[in-house]
Amino acid sequence: MTAVTPLKASVGTARTRVEGRDKVTGAARYAGEIPFAELAHGWLAVSALARGRIRSMDTDAVLAMPGVLTVLHHGNAPRLETGYPGLMGMRPDVSVALFQHDRVPHAGWPVALIVAETSEQAREAAEALVVEYDAEPHDTDFHADRPGTYTAADEPHAAAVTAKGDLEAELARSAVVVDARYTTPEEHHNPLEPHAATARWEAGRLEVVDSNQGAVWVQGELAGLFSLDPASVRVRSEHIGGGFGSKSVRAHQVAAVMAATALRRPVRVVLTRRQMFSLAGYRSPTAQRIRLGADADGRLRALGHEALNLTSTVHEYLEPSAMPGRVLYDADAHHTAHRIVRLDVPSPTFMRAPGAAPGSFALESALDELAAKCGVDPIELRVRNEPETGPVSGLPFAGRTLVACFREGARRFGWADRDPRPGLRRDGRWLLGTGTASASYHAGTAPSTAAATAEADGTFTIRISASDIGTGARTALTLIAADALEVASDRVRVLIGDSDFGPAMIAGGSMGTSSWAWAITAAVARLRERLAGSGAVPPEGITVRADSTAAIVALPPKERHSYGAQFAEVAVDTGTGEVRVRRMLGIFSAGRIVNPLTARGQFVGGMTWGISMALHEEAVRDRASGAHVGADLAGYHVAAHADVPHIEADWLPAERDEDDPINIKGIGELGIVGAAAAVANAVWHATGVRHRHLPIRPDRVL
Ligand code: MOS
Repeated sequence: MTAVTPLKASVGTARTRVEGRDKVTGAARYAGEIPFAELAHGWLAVSALARGRIRSMDTDAVLAMPGVLTVLHHGNAPRLETGYPGLMGMRPDVSVALFQHDRVPHAGWPVALIVAETSEQAREAAEALVVEYDAEPHDTDFHADRPGTYTAADEPHAAAVTAKGDLEAELARSAVVVDARYTTPEEHHNPLEPHAATARWEAGRLEVVDSNQGAVWVQGELAGLFSLDPASVRVRSEHIGGGFGSKSVRAHQVAAVMAATALRRPVRVVLTRRQMFSLAGYRSPTAQRIRLGADADGRLRALGHEALNLTSTVHEYLEPSAMPGRVLYDADAHHTAHRIVRLDVPSPTFMRAPGAAPGSFALESALDELAAKCGVDPIELRVRNEPETGPVSGLPFAGRTLVACFREGARRFGWADRDPRPGLRRDGRWLLGTGTASASYHAGTAPSTAAATAEADGTFTIRISASDIGTGARTALTLIAADALEVASDRVRVLIGDSDFGPAMIAGGSMGTSSWAWAITAAVARLRERLAGSGAVPPEGITVRADSTAAIVALPPKERHSYGAQFAEVAVDTGTGEVRVRRMLGIFSAGRIVNPLTARGQFVGGMTWGISMALHEEAVRDRASGAHVGADLAGYHVAAHADVPHIEADWLPAERDEDDPINIKGIGELGIVGAAAAVANAVWHATGVRHRHLPIRPDRVL
C-alpha cells in the first residue's frame, strides 16, 4: 500500500467551476487584458511568400510612424540558443527561435516585430513595413504518394516503427483482406482566446504573463532560448481561454521577451486569428494505409498500419497515427509505421488526441469494412479481437474495459435491433444509418510537485503549477484536495498557473489531472502528518511540499489506457450530399471521474469535435502561394450548433486498480477518438458508400 490518502466524498459529485463566477462577471483576467503600467505593444509582421530569403527591410520608414518604439528583425535581434532539451525529452520546436536568419521557411513566417505605444500603432506600422524577398520555389503539396522518410529519432511518445511476424505471409493466408487508404486533412485548433503574452523585467527577474498549458514548460523553454537560469524566469497563466495542444511556447512569448529586454518596459504580443493558422501549430494532414487480414470469423491474422504526415523544414513533428493499433487489436503479424515528409509549411504540433484522432478514423473505418466483408457484427468483431496483453509491448493491461463500454453502449443505443445491410433505411429524402467505433487513449501520469498549507483560519491552500485550460481542472483539484484533507471543498483554495509553484506536468496528453492529483495527495498526506504532531497553526500557516516522482516511478509497467465506445446515427440527403448527425452516444471508461459536470462537458466537446472532423474541418492550402485559403473562423468550417444533435456521454463505474490509488485515467483526448469513424461508418451504413477521405463533404457524397 502507498501512503497516499484514498479519495472520498467530494470527488464524484457534480460541481460548477470554482472560478465560474469570476469568469462570467469578467473579474477573471486573461493574459491579453491584465493591465501593466508603461505597457508597450508588439505586432508581428509575417511573410507572404512561402520560401526564400529576406533581401531588405525598410525599417526607417516605420520607425518614423506615430508611436513606433522599435523594430526587431534578423539584423538586430539577440542570438538564441536552440540546443536545449524540450519537455519530457522531446525535441523543442525551434520555429519559435525568431529573427535568427534571413530565411523564410513558410508563408506566415514572422519577419519582424514592430513595437509601439498602442496596439493600433504597432499594427499600422507592421502593415506598412516594406520587405523585399528573393523568392525560391516552394513545395507545400502533401499527398499519399509522397515517399516520406522514417523519423530520424523516435520521439519518447511514439516509436517510428513496430513489427511482429510476417505481414505479407499472414495476409496471403487470410480468408478476408481489407487493404484501404485513408486521408485526413490539415486541421486547426483555434482556442477562442488567442495566444497572448506580456513580458517584463522585475527586480532582476523576467516575468511573462501568458496563456499556456504549462507555466513551467514555457519557463523552461524561454530559459533555454535566452540562456537564462530558470529560477530567474517566472511564468504566470492563471486563466486560459482554451488550449488543445497549441498553447505552448510560440512566437508571441519569444517576441515579447526580446522586446521587453530591448526596451526595458513591459511588452505585450497577441497573435491575430489569422496568425494563429501559421504560428500556433496545427494537426498535420495524414495519409494512411491499413491492411487487415482475417479468418472468415473475423479473427485478425494481420494488421498493418502505415501513416504519413508532413512537417516543416524547421522541425520534425510526428503525428503518431499508427498508435491506436498498438493498443486496440493484436494479430499474428502486426506492423505499424510512421513516415514524415518535409514541406515548406509551418510546423505542425500536438492537437487534441495526437495520432489517435486521425489514426482511429482510419483503423476503425477499416475494422468496419472488415466486419462487413466477414458478415460479422462490428461490435462482435472487436470482441473476437480482444488482446490478452499489449499487442506490441506484451505488458498486462491495467483494466481493459473496451468490451464493457461496447456492451453498455449497445444496450443504450439500441444496437441489437440494427439490420447490418447498408442503404436500406429511408426517412423521406434521407437515407439513415448507424455506426460504431472504439476509442482509447494512453493514461499516463508524470512527476509533479505541490505545496499544501494549513492556514490559521482553518482553511487550506494548495499551490501547484497546474493549468486550467477551460476544462475545470482547478475545480477537479479542489475536490481531490478536499477529499485528501477530509474537509469540505469550500475550505480549500487551489492556486495554479505560476511557475514559482515548482515543477509540474502540463495540461496535456490527458495527464494533467492525474499527475497533479498524485502530487496534491502526497503533499496533503505530509501536511496531515505534520498537523497531527503540532498544536495550533501559527499565523503564517504550516506549509509542506511534496514531489510525486518516487511514487510514480514505482508504478509497475502496464498498458494503462482509457477506453470508449462511440455510436452515431446519421441521415444522408442523396439529393444534396448533406450528412446530418441525428444522435451520438459515447460510453467511456477512464478510471475515477472527478467532477461529472465538467467531465461530461469534456466528452461532449470531444465528440462534437469528432463530428466536426468527420464532416467539416479542412484547412486548404493554395499550391501557388503556399498559403492558406480562408485562414479564419469564417473560412475554416467547424461544426456549429445546428450541426450538433443531442449527444449523450456517460461512463462506467471505475474499476479498482490495485497499483494506482489515484486511478484517474484522463479524459482530455478520449472523447474525439473514434468519433469521426463512428460517423463515417454510419454514412456507409446509410448509403453503402465507404468514405475514406475526410471531411465527408457534400461533393464527396454525391
Ligand atoms: Mo494536448 S494535444 O495533450 O493539449
